[in-house]
Amino acid sequence: MKAELKLDFPTDFVWGVATSAYQIEGAWNEDGRTPSIWDHYCRIPGAIANGDSGDIACDHYHRYPEDIALMRELGIKAYRLSISWSRIFPSPEQRPNSKGLAFYQRLVEALLTAGITPWITLYHYDLPLWLHELGGWTNKRILDEFEIYSQTVVKALGGMVKNWFIINEPRPIAWLGYGQGIHAPGQKDYEAFLKAAWHLQLAVGRAIQAMRSLYKDLVIGTVLDLTAFQPLTSSAEDCAACERFDQFYNRFYLDPTLKGEYPPITASLGFEPDVQELKQNFQKLDFIGINYYFRQVVAADQMASLLQGRIIPETSHLTEMGWKIYPQGLEKLLLRLKTEYSNIPVYITENGAAFQDLVCQDGVVQDDDRIAFLRDHLVSAHRALQEGVNLKGYFVWSLLDNFEWSRGYSKRFGLISVDFQTQKRTPKKSFYWYQEIIAANALRLP
Ligand code: FCB
Repeated sequence: MKAELKLDFPTDFVWGVATSAYQIEGAWNEDGRTPSIWDHYCRIPGAIANGDSGDIACDHYHRYPEDIALMRELGIKAYRLSISWSRIFPSPEQRPNSKGLAFYQRLVEALLTAGITPWITLYHYDLPLWLHELGGWTNKRILDEFEIYSQTVVKALGGMVKNWFIINEPRPIAWLGYGQGIHAPGQKDYEAFLKAAWHLQLAVGRAIQAMRSLYKDLVIGTVLDLTAFQPLTSSAEDCAACERFDQFYNRFYLDPTLKGEYPPITASLGFEPDVQELKQNFQKLDFIGINYYFRQVVAADQMASLLQGRIIPETSHLTEMGWKIYPQGLEKLLLRLKTEYSNIPVYITENGAAFQDLVCQDGVVQDDDRIAFLRDHLVSAHRALQEGVNLKGYFVWSLLDNFEWSRGYSKRFGLISVDFQTQKRTPKKSFYWYQEIIAANALRLP
């Protein structure tokens, strides 16, 4: 008989799942919440697949007790959620809205009662519309606003919540939202992108200082999305192009966040960061969160503006998002955090996949492709652990099928399937698979 292989994880390894406010809460105009840039963007014809919006989403705002019961059944130790800023600060006059804060207090209390540790992200894409009207992330005033917001949230929850993420993925916020216009607020303006990226950077240090002034014992990090880039060939040109992509998409956020400096490519981007301000603002993080989904292959292209390179479309081994499945990339990126960024403690704050999820006759989604995806990435993460990476935990994206930004409800990432007509939740096969891993604190490979 073939022996089973068992990969053990450290005893204090944190197993969790992640969600974000706009993607699951719904209740878009309840208890004083005002629109965020995503509520607004969803109303632009053609912006979102099928004209979907997060108005109702998973109705988690009302159904959170049921969702927490499912988390409990899953056995997770940690739940990563985000706060909707426009529930807390619905208008310039109303800061804060006590009903908004009360919702998150109820949620946190219910999680703690269920024995689940909340990990809170302060900002996951959903800027209050009124702040956008003042220039959003392109206006430096946002730093004061974000500081007050972070303090308000921490005052309300900091006694109960120790683990915090400041911002989820500055790259898509700045590049997709302000540079490319394919995420809210839908701007296509290179200068706006640079300003947004700069202010998102400074917001992290500002918020950390403000939060620590209230509670000394908070454990604070922030979340970056990292892509595994690979050159198309080993030619010097392709390798150089790949290096430029890595600097622009990864290091442009990693370096200032973890080292307080920008990578060499910055000068050629038409961006001159105020080095003094960056240094003054720099705060050492307790950990970094990384979201990892795919790799991209890069070829040199002298005609391509900005980076003189292009992404080669992938044709096989893709998820429903069209993203290349490449588990080895996770190990490589984790190793870089060890060698290039002082082996900072790291959490994989998102990893997961959208697949077609065919429902079988018994009503269960037999999502073997999702299981294979998660398993292969965990194997890769485990290899990184063995190589000495300071990896502390893993959060699956996501608990529930939910509103996947510009793809609406057409892409399903959940361990639990959601029928958006009835709001019925049904755990998928991957839910039970993950449940076993958590219970054993180990991954069993056949
Ligand atoms: C990440 C986002 C998250 C989710 C996944 C699929 O970039 O942080 O909200 O949409 O992608």
